[in-house]
Amino acid sequence: MSAPHVPRQLFVTTALPYANGHFHIGHIMEYIQADIWVRVQRMQGSHVNFVGADDTHGAPIMIAAEKAGKTPQQFVADIAAGRKPYLDGFHIQFDNWHSTDAPENHELARQIYRDLRDIPLAKGGSLIEVRAVEQFFDPQKNMFLPDRFIKGECPKCHAKDQYGDNCEVCGAVYAPTDLINPFSALSGAKPELKTSEHFFFKLSDPRCIEFLSQWTQDGKLQPEVANKVKEWFSVRSNPDGTTSEGLGDWDISRDAPYFGIEIPDAPGKYFYVWLDAPVGYLASLKNLLDQRGESYDAYMANPALEQIHFIGKDIVTFHTLFWPAMLHFSGRKTPNKVNVHGFLTVNNGEKMSKSRGTGLDPLKYLSLGMNPEWLRYYLAAKLSARNEDIDFNAEDFMTRVNSDLIGKFVNIASRSAGFIAKRFNGTLGTVSADGQALLATLQNATPAIAAFYEEREYAKALREVMLLADKVNAYVDQNKPWDLAKQEGMDARLHDVCTACIEGFRLLSLQLKPVLPALAAQVEAFLHVSPFTFDQAQSLLGAGHSINAYQHLMQRVTPEQLEALFEPPAVVDEKRIPGGEAIAPTISIDDFAKVDLRIAQIVNCEPVEGSVKLLRLTLDVGEGPDAQGRPILRNVFSGIASMYKPEDLIGQLTVLVANLAPRKMKFGVSEGMVLAASHADEKADAGIYVLHPWPGAKPGMRIH
Ligand code: MSP
Ligand code: ZN
Repeated sequence: MSAPHVPRQLFVTTALPYANGHFHIGHIMEYIQADIWVRVQRMQGSHVNFVGADDTHGAPIMIAAEKAGKTPQQFVADIAAGRKPYLDGFHIQFDNWHSTDAPENHELARQIYRDLRDIPLAKGGSLIEVRAVEQFFDPQKNMFLPDRFIKGECPKCHAKDQYGDNCEVCGAVYAPTDLINPFSALSGAKPELKTSEHFFFKLSDPRCIEFLSQWTQDGKLQPEVANKVKEWFSVRSNPDGTTSEGLGDWDISRDAPYFGIEIPDAPGKYFYVWLDAPVGYLASLKNLLDQRGESYDAYMANPALEQIHFIGKDIVTFHTLFWPAMLHFSGRKTPNKVNVHGFLTVNNGEKMSKSRGTGLDPLKYLSLGMNPEWLRYYLAAKLSARNEDIDFNAEDFMTRVNSDLIGKFVNIASRSAGFIAKRFNGTLGTVSADGQALLATLQNATPAIAAFYEEREYAKALREVMLLADKVNAYVDQNKPWDLAKQEGMDARLHDVCTACIEGFRLLSLQLKPVLPALAAQVEAFLHVSPFTFDQAQSLLGAGHSINAYQHLMQRVTPEQLEALFEPPAVVDEKRIPGGEAIAPTISIDDFAKVDLRIAQIVNCEPVEGSVKLLRLTLDVGEGPDAQGRPILRNVFSGIASMYKPEDLIGQLTVLVANLAPRKMKFGVSEGMVLAASHADEKADAGIYVLHPWPGAKPGMRIH
């Protein structure tokens, strides 16, 4: 394989997560994998646009929104609003985060469709075909039912309550029409068979077969993925006696009601979510370039541009068949690489449910004060270029972080920086031959480490870095700076040895920077150098370079943190005591009327110095104006700092007990109390949730 030209032009994406829930640790793993790769490219001077977006469309999201009493648009906007703390929290640096429901995506998806539909006869003609399809229809909900919303008795083993596509008891695969006594999972109604016109993308067309059998086998995919994909092209007999067809046409339409993008010239028909989902990659990119005033068309027309997707192994078909075919036959650039990773499990747990995502709650991890770069390091230390599953194991995590990352790497700096500061005025000295040889080993190893990163062999890269750290530690142990420091006349040697350590530490930090960007930034500040690039590994700081005072760079993981992280949520409903406490004695309406509850707008919110629990809220409850004609604002303290960032609360509405006697606290007077829900038993750690009125409520309205 020839090395790509540097600087490269790269367009990098991760799969677009369904906007039906918050991120789980599997998503975070995918983003960390891609983020490391992107940082490697940037450290080599390449130009990268790294984008993501929410995958907003489809029946499940539409139905979930209805259940939540929201419009689908509101529903996905609420999910989108919660993305930032995860991405920032784990140092995942997307250049843009967009939505498949954004105008750019509507426009691009519709244009790609038109291009596929209108392929001239001279070029083989349209790849879109309309066919009548018989499908189950829910007469009560007035909609066609997706397979997973039809249930019934398994035709094979007669298990009750099975989904429309396969039986979870005996594993049989069938069509929803094979179910015995089918019913709608939405309404319970007996579904009716109804005919409707569906739009198909003709993947079985010889043009598609020819193109894809080539495209999937010419090095864009990992070998194991390419082999798997190859099987999909052939007609073959399965072990269970059925035959598989080879590539079939792809049904790309759904009937209204559907949350999606309307198909051009086909009122009431919408694109199936997987048609417009990958187009969201382009839409997010276009939105980014528009924001910067750059041309999307010019960017995509650059023949040197490399388009690279990171995805999980469950969505390979979409990215290696449908997506490249859509792009190619609509006259667009196809991906240069589709990098497939395996699944993350937690503590040997079952594969995390895609929607529930159990195991390790990323926000809980952060709220426990656990360092995000521990997780980045740990996952990187397990990731390879193959699409095999990896497991997060709590003990393994603690060992790797504490003994490798901190014990081997971070400690090098703490063992040598003190002497440089105290004895040599913070200035580096000259390194003699043995130290030079050590540093040359580290320098010479750097290109190979960069190459491992490039190939997504992160485990190999980190193993290499840790072997180098071992060498630096062996040098320290041999030369014992703490002994040299006590000996007369050994000043020069002490300076020499500590300088070699600091130079070595710099090289290791540079090598680890894609995985540990925040730590590397601290090291850059400590060493007083500009941001590391891979090129810089070929030079040293040199004698006379001044460094800053060393501050401890990273704490160890504690068993308590891990225990808290995996502590199962308290069992609350053993005796069915709601929220952990019994309902209070009955009161009269007059009792209730004594409590004056008002809608309040949070006009400002800030942390309280000296308190980890409290936030200081400034509230507008519609009171005033005062003598100067300004609204009267209230100062209220609330014990919600573990759950909310101040900036996320500013501007929001909530509910205030407005006639509560003011309370003098250590930090000032609290003029009322904001309503928040929590479990009676604080140890249940179920969180505390501020009440939030439905849209339309205004500051000052009373709650009756
Ligand atoms: N919306 C589709 C993707 C559309 S791409 C145009 C989807 N969303 S998802 O939220 O279910 O998954 C998003 C990504 O997370 C996928 O790449 C998926 O493989 C990955 N993962 C989901 N669970 C995972 C693990 N447990 N471990 C690692 N990655 C996992 O599919
Ligand atoms: Zn069955």
